[in-house]
Amino acid sequence: MSQKVLLTGGAGFIGSHTYIELIKAGFDVVILDNFSNARPDVIDRLEVITASPVTCYKGDVLDGALLDQIFAEHKIDAAIHFAALKAVGESADIPLEYMNTNIAGLYSLLRAMDRAGTSALVFSSSATVYGQPDQLPVPENAPRSYTSPYGFTKLACEQSLEQVAASDSKWAFGILRYFNPAGAHDSALIGEDPSDIPNNLMPYIAKVATGELAELAVFGGDYDTPDGTGVRDYIHVMDLARGHVLSVKALLETGQCHTVNLGTGIGYSVLDMLHAYARAAEKPLPHRIAPRRLGDVASVYADPTQARDLLGFTAELGLDEMCASSWNWVSRRKNT
Ligand code: UFG
Repeated sequence: MSQKVLLTGGAGFIGSHTYIELIKAGFDVVILDNFSNARPDVIDRLEVITASPVTCYKGDVLDGALLDQIFAEHKIDAAIHFAALKAVGESADIPLEYMNTNIAGLYSLLRAMDRAGTSALVFSSSATVYGQPDQLPVPENAPRSYTSPYGFTKLACEQSLEQVAASDSKWAFGILRYFNPAGAHDSALIGEDPSDIPNNLMPYIAKVATGELAELAVFGGDYDTPDGTGVRDYIHVMDLARGHVLSVKALLETGQCHTVNLGTGIGYSVLDMLHAYARAAEKPLPHRIAPRRLGDVASVYADPTQARDLLGFTAELGLDEMCASSWNWVSRRKNT
């Protein structure tokens, strides 16, 4: 019988792409999502892509009774916990919301898993836990800190998982530290779809390419980087999705915890990204150099060795695939 995975936040950007890879790998999947940052038609689109019905509960991870119902109705072998708030700037305005959704949300899920006897969990963490890294590429054992309430919640969740795992060896946790996700599924039926003006680079560039936004403000042109603009580790969302499948498999096979970076190990600048996207969209993309954004660092990119050694994970898709698949998604979406 297939193993069954609960995806909290499974209708969101990374969650929906991971859903496809899990189905492809032979897992049964149950989605729980409150649709606060996902469109309902994502579910229909997942049904088209996978050619099979999707099991989805609409609700909140803080709702313990709903979690109990899901665990009673399905024999869940593992959970992947995506459901969380993720905007760095917003987290400074509403820190309590971030702490409640992100930290209390994780506790709510863990307690429900404990009641149901499920002990394998993959947790969506972030390179934000490295704060301002002083070592590049960043290895997993680099010092952790935070520069925003959002970063605080991710670090608090990681530390909570570590304490829980230390208390009882039944728990198997996979902590995945994402770098900068980009791109979309090849079908162009799902992708990143922020309803407001995007905070992040890739969705912002995408909206400049579709003409929804006039120009990109490049935050800082005087960093100590090859072209003066910020350098990050962009990873294709389908690679990221595959990383989750490998993480769940490792947890279920070994029962051992792991913490890994999910990145490519390659750093690209803001201008590299802009130029690559302009190639994919076959048009020049207007931009101007603007002041630095508060809290940004010059360069962050992953040491991907541990993900390779522990999970057999290496990113396979490059910059051109990220830009082409994103453009394919946003240009078709705008025309439908
Ligand atoms: N940038 C611009 N203009 C924009 C948006 C971004 O120039 O309109 C630049 C930023 O200054 C930075 C780069 O593009 O140099 C990437 O910025 P993003 O906001 O896309 O991503 P960050 O690396 O700042 O943040 C991401 C995640 C966070 C996470 C962090 C961890 O969005 O959730 O990585 O390193 F905390």
